[in-house]
Amino acid sequence: MLSRVIPAASFLFLTLIICVHAASDQPPTQDSLKTETFWQSTLLRRFDSNKDGKLNASERIALCDAFGGVDVPMLPVKSHRYTLILVPSHVAQSKLREIDNTPPDNVLTDAGATLGRVLFYDKQLSQNNTIACASCHQQQRAFSDPRQFSVGFEGGYTKRNAMGLANLRYTILNGRRPGFFWDERAPTLEAQVVMPIQDEVEMGMRFPQLEAKLWALPYYPPLFEAAFGSTEVTCERIGKAVAQFMRAMISFDSRFDRAAEASASDNYSVDFDSFTAAENVGKSLFIDGLGGVAEIGCAHCHVPPIFGMPKSFNNGLDMHYTDQGLGARDVPSNDPFTLTNDGRFKAPSLRNVALTAPYMHDGRFKALEQVVEHYSSGVHSHANLDLAFNDEQPVGDTETSGFRLTPGQKSALLAFLKTLTDEEFISDPRFSDPFLRRKD
Ligand code: HEC
Ligand code: HEC
Repeated sequence: MLSRVIPAASFLFLTLIICVHAASDQPPTQDSLKTETFWQSTLLRRFDSNKDGKLNASERIALCDAFGGVDVPMLPVKSHRYTLILVPSHVAQSKLREIDNTPPDNVLTDAGATLGRVLFYDKQLSQNNTIACASCHQQQRAFSDPRQFSVGFEGGYTKRNAMGLANLRYTILNGRRPGFFWDERAPTLEAQVVMPIQDEVEMGMRFPQLEAKLWALPYYPPLFEAAFGSTEVTCERIGKAVAQFMRAMISFDSRFDRAAEASASDNYSVDFDSFTAAENVGKSLFIDGLGGVAEIGCAHCHVPPIFGMPKSFNNGLDMHYTDQGLGARDVPSNDPFTLTNDGRFKAPSLRNVALTAPYMHDGRFKALEQVVEHYSSGVHSHANLDLAFNDEQPVGDTETSGFRLTPGQKSALLAFLKTLTDEEFISDPRFSDPFLRRKD
């Protein structure tokens, strides 16, 4: 009898040891971790104790604890396809190649963009683990910040408004390579993405420390290995991976794109069948300008199909600027007819503009109506005001001018701007937060 009981008991004992071991708080060693550890199916197998197919609050806590108390990402088993870029037929592939800023040494890969996505949403990139890129660039706002100024890791405010992020891969126009930021101070995306991490207000990290910090997190070594062939975490690789993620964020599925595609032409001047009469009037004002004078159309600076422009202009927001934009940088004037760059800012992309309020470099306008009113009647005659506005010469320091739009034209322009919203882009799981957070 006894001889039968002992093996059963020792079996039970052994099982107990195994269970206790599996649930222990020891963070798994770097060597034992692979990308598969962070796949959705693996994490569910290990932590979904009530088997309902998702992780509830207490299961998340168990998971965070098992990895040393940090939030971890949950990744799809079959990697998202970032390299597959669906482009509507009105945007010619040859044109896209011309305006693509991808450098030969950082070609987009699915593993690279996957790592970039995790980095973009990771609060560990900030000094006190409170701020991620996504804190100021929110997907449901087309990656802009609804606040006038963004709040950094210690509660400080940024000096400018965080613009939306989309199609940053396509920025070259006629061979001109624009810089990133409102004042174009970052020459490439690779250089841009590591700047907020080190910014004193935004994320406040120092680079050698960041490399060590990320390497010690359980999920990074396998993700770096998948993306770059070895687990080494370097500043250069961080920059490259986030830049790849930025380049994967393509927004070409707005009502404008669908309507242009249906019209089977890249001539944006023809009326689109699926647009309302007002939207077509607005489109014509935007593209062909007032009275057909293209130079004073919005598209002169917000050039389709990107609706941005790789150049900085003054659009008459003020007579005297407190923030001089490009003018505060030590670069020669970008216009042969003026001595300085004072008051010049990069013309931002207007894709998803209905979602990216507030507007302008200082977020001064809460609503698109105010933007349209600015162009209609609020333009100041700044010394560097772009010629597009000069036909409407305002006089003196206090008077303002503009395109003098009728109420009907203003609402048509607004209706058109709202066709640039891409609902797929803001709900695309490829660009969403991958983290399972202990606290939401
Ligand atoms: C604390 C808020 C904050 C954080 C965190 C932040 N950003 Fe930004 N971002 C901004 C602001 C504000 C601007 C505009 C600043 C300027 O132009 O001077 C900006 C501009 C940008 C631009 C320029 C876009 C263009 O069209 O020129 C990119 C790209 C960008 N951010 C990506 C990132 C990435 C990637 C991260 C994380 C590594 C990040 N941001 C973190 C607030 C933030
Ligand atoms: C001469 C070039 C130029 C023309 C023409 C122009 N814009 Fe702009 N636009 C700019 C610049 C530059 C900025 C950024 C200015 C700043 O923040 O100081 C801007 C900003 C904007 C913004 C704010 C975007 C954001 O994300 O904050 C909107 C919206 C806009 N323009 C719409 C229009 C419309 C509509 C028209 C036509 C009525 C138009 N623009 C004509 C250069 C131009």
